[in-house]
Amino acid sequence: MRLSDVRKHLRRKIVPMENIFSLLSGLDFKSVLDVGAGTGLFLEEMRARRPQLRMVGVETNNRYCRADTGICIVGPEALTEKEKFDLILFMDVLHHNYDKATLLNYYISRHLADKGHVFIKEMSPEKQLCKYYNRLHDLLMFQERIYEISLSTLVEFLQPKLRLVSHTSRRIFLYDHYMVLLQSA
Ligand SMILES: C[S@@+](CC[C@H](N)C(=O)[O-])C[C@H]1O[C@@H](n2cnc3c(N)ncnc32)[C@H](O)[C@@H]1O
Repeated sequence: MRLSDVRKHLRRKIVPMENIFSLLSGLDFKSVLDVGAGTGLFLEEMRARRPQLRMVGVETNNRYCRADTGICIVGPEALTEKEKFDLILFMDVLHHNYDKATLLNYYISRHLADKGHVFIKEMSPEKQLCKYYNRLHDLLMFQERIYEISLSTLVEFLQPKLRLVSHTSRRIFLYDHYMVLLQSA
């Protein structure tokens, strides 16, 4: 079994697909960009439900880059500014980036279509014990530091460009996660 298969198996247990698809259910979109697509787990689920969508994933870890059965995951440099998407996803990727403003601005300003939507899933940093437990976990497992952001800080930061459509939260194992949907203002 490859490492990416193991990661996919574990992610499947912690990505609440039904919550996410229910938040996205009322939207009319034809194209999706998944920033930090990982192994492509979410795009595979999306493909199974809506095979007609144009889907692209972006990944900094080139072990996950692939192009098969309609799932296309590329490095960030492969996307041209001309490519616009109706929906951009950031799922558990912001906390891997210290400079979230640059990351969000880059994809939203270059790749979000007019009236397009942005969906973000992140773990909530409010519970201190969980926050430090998770930091330790990522440090030991992946030798990575993580930088959480609260829902209110995130929405405040995005609000001039995007308007809040809906949000929900969900506890996954020890951690509270929030999921938020915004639309180009
Ligand atoms: C916790 S995984 C989440 C994967 C996937 N979104 C999911 O929910 O299953 C975070 C992924 O984001 C990628 N990543 C981190 N920073 C990134 C960036 N600036 N641009 C693209 N990918 C990034 C990492 O390589 C990793 O695969």
